[in-house]
Amino acid sequence: MQIIRGFRDILPGNIKLWQRVEKEATQLFSEFGFNEIRLPILEKTEVFARSIGEVTDIVEKEMYTFPDRKGDKLSLRPEATASMVRAYVQHKMYADDPVRKFYTIGPMFRRERPQKGRYRQFYQIDVEIFGVASAYIDANLIFLLNELFSRLGLTDLKAHINSLGCPECRPGFQKALLDLLESSKNELCSNCLRRKDTNPLRTIDCKNPSCREVLKDAPATLDFLCKECEDHFSIVKQALKQQKVEFIEDKTLVRGLDYYTRTAFEIQTTSLGAQSAVAGGGRYDLLVKEMGGPDIPAIGFAIGFDRLVEVMETLGKKVDDNLLDLFIVPIGAVAMEKGYHWSTDLNLQGIRCEIDYRGRSLKSLMKRADKLGAKYVLIAGEKEISDNALVLRNMNTREQISMGVENPVADIIEYIKKND
Ligand code: HAM
Repeated sequence: MQIIRGFRDILPGNIKLWQRVEKEATQLFSEFGFNEIRLPILEKTEVFARSIGEVTDIVEKEMYTFPDRKGDKLSLRPEATASMVRAYVQHKMYADDPVRKFYTIGPMFRRERPQKGRYRQFYQIDVEIFGVASAYIDANLIFLLNELFSRLGLTDLKAHINSLGCPECRPGFQKALLDLLESSKNELCSNCLRRKDTNPLRTIDCKNPSCREVLKDAPATLDFLCKECEDHFSIVKQALKQQKVEFIEDKTLVRGLDYYTRTAFEIQTTSLGAQSAVAGGGRYDLLVKEMGGPDIPAIGFAIGFDRLVEVMETLGKKVDDNLLDLFIVPIGAVAMEKGYHWSTDLNLQGIRCEIDYRGRSLKSLMKRADKLGAKYVLIAGEKEISDNALVLRNMNTREQISMGVENPVADIIEYIKKND
């Protein structure tokens, strides 16, 4: 049997990097006052359709959607923001204190064409802040991403930022864009022709060469910003400059989800080929209200966990597997019984200890100790047991000491502590 296309097993050899990223991220989030939240991977389809947008690639083509046994239309979540907003509104979290800072980590599902950096089940590290309209929070989130990447030793990442405006200034931009699309109708692909009428902003990232040609001189939201949006964006840029966070002002960045207003950003890498976005996010000041809550601004981002780990692998970042402290070599039933209890006691006291119960010879078990990279080996052969003299060997120095059978655990710990 084989795994589903675009789905992956993350195997023990790779998991160390995942754990390192998760540890670093959760540590940083807690320093910056975020709380974890856990959300279901399945929601009613409307949760995503209404927030991400009916006319987006994600909702139109990529969701895993199916009726449940009662006919309710459900979807595997393609991202976390929609569920986060649903939960914030459903539990009236704003009632007590509208300002909330959350993060969540977990699998998302999009039925895209699989390739390097793009999977049908992938993981996101998602961060959202509710209740703060200030531009300093936008800068703060981009700073946070930058800080995480620098703690992970990643240097080839660049923040791209843009402002997508607000309902005040969007119409001016949309009109200019529509004029262009209308006058170049004959050169547009069928998708863009349709989107011209339903969601013109989406035409801007069409990959079709003929559309690209038309849209290379497309108007930019930045050229149409109202005074408030412009001031907001200036504060974001100014704060980032003061914090020495490098960024590129990228007027072509429109993002693939419809809920954004004002600041949108992506962290891009050059080391993953086509799938260059390692993280993306932005402000979505209208969404809480659209999902049935009060008028509360919000902003967030999601890191593509798989992609981040791949960038780290490309840059040769490794976390060594845990080496074994102690390998117990038991020969015979008595040694196995005693060894079983010693090894559990040692594990409980923080010593990484393994024992082999397969009844192999001393020679083959010593080979295995080498293979596992054990720093010490405890030899409990029949003779050692009957002489009441177990042998503890330091595999580095080849030094050997002996100890009694009754309670070797304390002696082992003392010896390891002295020698480590
Ligand atoms: P997004 O840009 O769709 O934004 O996804 C965020 C990140 O998830 C991407 O930059 C990418 O690294 C990763 N990603 C997306 N699709 C795949 C895939 N098929 N395979 C592997 N990685 C993938 C969002 O999802 C928004 N919810 C972000 C956000 C949070 N905006 C505000 N708050």
